[in-house]
Amino acid sequence: MKFFIDTANLAHIKEAQDLGVLDGVTTNPSLMAKEGISGKDNVLRHYKAICDLVDGDVSAEVIATDFEGMIREGEELAELDDKIVVKIPMIKEGIKALKYFSSRGIKTNCTLVFSAGQALLAAKAGATYVSPFIGRLDDISFDGMDLIDQIRVIYDNYEYDTQILAASVRHPIHIIKCAEIGADVMTGPLSAILALLKHPLTDSGLATFLADHAKSNQ
Ligand code: E4P
Repeated sequence: MKFFIDTANLAHIKEAQDLGVLDGVTTNPSLMAKEGISGKDNVLRHYKAICDLVDGDVSAEVIATDFEGMIREGEELAELDDKIVVKIPMIKEGIKALKYFSSRGIKTNCTLVFSAGQALLAAKAGATYVSPFIGRLDDISFDGMDLIDQIRVIYDNYEYDTQILAASVRHPIHIIKCAEIGADVMTGPLSAILALLKHPLTDSGLATFLADHAKSNQ
């Protein structure tokens, strides 16, 4: 399973990249705003800075919601760097834009997906990635993992190439469940990735090893 980090924070991206397990980055307009990035030039510069930091795909989201606007913005984003994946919302105009970009060999990520029907449409339109939002479904008492399961079955039935990018991951159990089901990618914050490291028996075991080593080497 590929690991993407879901942030526009350069320090977090660098930390995950330095760990050696990072396969890409996803961003969204809220994450860019959180870093105080505004104005077209600054936004484009920031995406370029992210691309320079990572070995892997970098999702950059369009703001337009009409077909022409999405194409204009998406083409501009794609020109920035080969790593850019144009992130398109799951709306009617977005489906047309996904088809436009996929037929031109530009990578896409269909975002804000909350149902299997939406995921089916995204695959038919040729999206490179589809982003079902697990955490936000959990937030409203739907099991986000059921959606990953359903999409996996549908995509396998028809051998769609679209990769399932499990998004809105909030904690390590989400990541482990996604890996069990066979999501192609997960995207989450640095905290969720680092939480995979944690086990109290690892900590106590290491403390004992080091103490025993120190005693026998006094
Ligand atoms: C996906 O690409 C989104 O950026 C993201 O995963 C949303 O996560 P959130 O629900 O934690 O905001």
